[in-house]
Amino acid sequence: MKTNYLHQGDCLPFLEGLPDSAIDALITDPPYASGGLHIGARQQSPTIKYTSSGRNQLHSDFTGDHRDQRSHLRWMLLWLSECFRALKPGAPICLFTDWRQLPTTTDALQAAGFTWRGIAVWDKTEGVRPQMGRFRAQCEYVVWGSKGDMPIKRDVGVLPGAIRQVIKQTDKHHITGKPTEVMRHFNRICKPGGIILDPFAGSGSTLVAAQMDGYEWIGCELSDHYHEIAQARLNGL
Ligand SMILES: C[S@@+](CC[C@H](N)C(=O)[O-])C[C@H]1O[C@@H](n2cnc3c(N)ncnc32)[C@H](O)[C@@H]1O
Repeated sequence: MKTNYLHQGDCLPFLEGLPDSAIDALITDPPYASGGLHIGARQQSPTIKYTSSGRNQLHSDFTGDHRDQRSHLRWMLLWLSECFRALKPGAPICLFTDWRQLPTTTDALQAAGFTWRGIAVWDKTEGVRPQMGRFRAQCEYVVWGSKGDMPIKRDVGVLPGAIRQVIKQTDKHHITGKPTEVMRHFNRICKPGGIILDPFAGSGSTLVAAQMDGYEWIGCELSDHYHEIAQARLNGL
């Protein structure tokens, strides 16, 4: 298996091509298919759903974020089941999600065979859009677990369950891009030097963070545009 390699294409055939029990951690930020309570709202573009102005001159849209709830769960099961096969026994898995898709994400993780172990938090701080008279939706969540038993002695220290990290425009390369420091934090669940898989690489934040911290990595991204951005970031390290 080629590592430190970013594939361009649909992750399903890519994942099917991975060998059994070869990967040390799955850390990924898949399309959430979120942004509304009814199908019409969900089928709008990510720019309209996930940016405060509904307009975004800086980052391109992406596909795969349009499914209704039933289809989204079924699709998650398809790719998560392939990840389950490709991960080593005991390997950790971290899935980003938002508040709307939290229950679906914990269902999908378990239905694919993983053991659900908790929810960690990325607090985006007060920089996110305010809502008058309501709680600010300033957090995203990382549903995490493992492929079966997870040995305590894995050469990984105590990891905080929450990270508070503002989004800096200079470190945002995707419409839903994650800060490098956030990805460095979550990658630490992988054993040192292990192979981290991200089938939804986007602008490559997981992989850039992995490379910075001496992990091996393997990724996939459907969009030509974001594949190019991620590859350029990785080449620049
Ligand atoms: C939420 S974004 C990931 C953003 C990334 N974490 C970052 O910081 O840049 C999800 C990505 O999955 C990609 N995607 C959607 N469907 C896909 C598929 N079937 N296979 C591979 N990538 C896909 C989208 O193009 C999008 O870039």
